[in-house]
Amino acid sequence: MRTTWTFHGPGQLLFGPHAVRQLPDVLDRLGARRVFIITDPALIQAGVAERVHAPLSRSGEAVELFPGGEPEPTMAAAQRCIDAARAFGPDAVLGLGGGSNMDLAKATALVLTHGGGLRDHFGEDRVPGPLLPVLCLPTTAGTGSEVSGSFVLTDTEHHLKVGVLSNHLRPRVALVDPLLTVSCPRQVTADSGIDALTHAIEAYTAVDNADFALPEGERTIYQGRHPMGDMLAERAIALVGRHLRRAVADGHDLEAREGMALAATLAGLAFSNVGVALVHALEYPVGGAVHVSHGAGNGLLLPAVMRYNLPLRVKEFASIARLLGEDVLGLTDHQAAERAVAAVERLRADIGIPQRLRDLGAREDQLRGFAEKAIGIRRILRVNPRTPTVDELEALYREMF
Ligand SMILES: NC(=O)c1ccc[n+]([C@@H]2O[C@H](COP(=O)([O-])OP(=O)(O)OC[C@H]3O[C@@H](n4cnc5c(N)ncnc54)[C@H](O)[C@@H]3O)[C@@H](O)[C@H]2O)c1
Ligand SMILES: [Fe+2]
Repeated sequence: MRTTWTFHGPGQLLFGPHAVRQLPDVLDRLGARRVFIITDPALIQAGVAERVHAPLSRSGEAVELFPGGEPEPTMAAAQRCIDAARAFGPDAVLGLGGGSNMDLAKATALVLTHGGGLRDHFGEDRVPGPLLPVLCLPTTAGTGSEVSGSFVLTDTEHHLKVGVLSNHLRPRVALVDPLLTVSCPRQVTADSGIDALTHAIEAYTAVDNADFALPEGERTIYQGRHPMGDMLAERAIALVGRHLRRAVADGHDLEAREGMALAATLAGLAFSNVGVALVHALEYPVGGAVHVSHGAGNGLLLPAVMRYNLPLRVKEFASIARLLGEDVLGLTDHQAAERAVAAVERLRADIGIPQRLRDLGAREDQLRGFAEKAIGIRRILRVNPRTPTVDELEALYREMF
């Protein structure tokens, strides 16, 4: 049983429209003269990379732009990035993009700082010490990777997403400029937005910190539900309720873009301390086997998992319904809690998230295998308020097939 809780974040968080203009100063204060920027062809095409690159080349930093980021990056993509960075010899690594490029930045700084191969570092809380400074500039509003202590890669060999967790992986600087998300395509806006909601809901309904069971000899950076996580998650859920539909409907709605950028960062601060739970555990095997974005996979799974956890978290789900703007006056807590599930189902349908695993190309004969993989992802399953059996996981997949 744990009786104390802690809170970790990035070294510095800068938030606001045009925050990107402060990048030269930020690098100056870090003493960084050689900056390795990780981005991808879509962001170069959209002109986002240039908005970050141009002020730096004027201020005299040596900059190398790596354009080889990809959605849900594979280990091979990460290795190419590491090789290019090693050849350049940076003193800071900057991830510009969605969770995919930000995660590549963390993986790259990890291997550049501590050596070895990528696989040597897999696991929880095993990074031996601080990294070369990592700066993250999110261009989606979703993953919270700009503040989190984790990165996720796709292991194509084992058909699984692998996560590496350590508080040393938290970026030195999270620079969140909502204007960088304006060009984010409609579907990426929807998928990453529902990922942020998933982070907030999973943190808000997680097992209590006092009941968080960590077996002897195991280490983790997650710690179950605590007051600071609750506060951040509540605000994030309300912001998603108010802004996600609008951001999807009109990418140039700056108020909605800013609301979602804040929601994603707050949800990131919440989940990266409290933990993510069953939705994420169920998503990793699916994401490793079929072609689906992490956010869409989570959005597909979220309502069924909420329903599964509901009996143990009635009050919390009732609050979530209120935070999402549902009228729950006169309802019992249980009725209000069910409204939370209905509200998420409606939101999901309104923004075009897939509703069935079969629509992603999953086959029924894969479901047992997914359940067997998910049950092994203990680092996140132990955050869930209800402890599932492998048969229950299979039943959940079947329900969503
Ligand atoms: N480290 C963490 O804490 C954490 C948490 C959740 C998810 N993740 C990981 O993050 C990844 C998903 O990240 P994501 O949802 O942010 O999407 P993404 O980074 O995969 O981006 C999706 C696509 O959208 C494009 N794009 C992004 N922003 C754009 C913009 N402003 N303009 C034009 N195009 C833009 C990208 O170039 C890319 O092609 C997954 O690999 C997931 O596992 C990590
Ligand atoms: Fe996520």
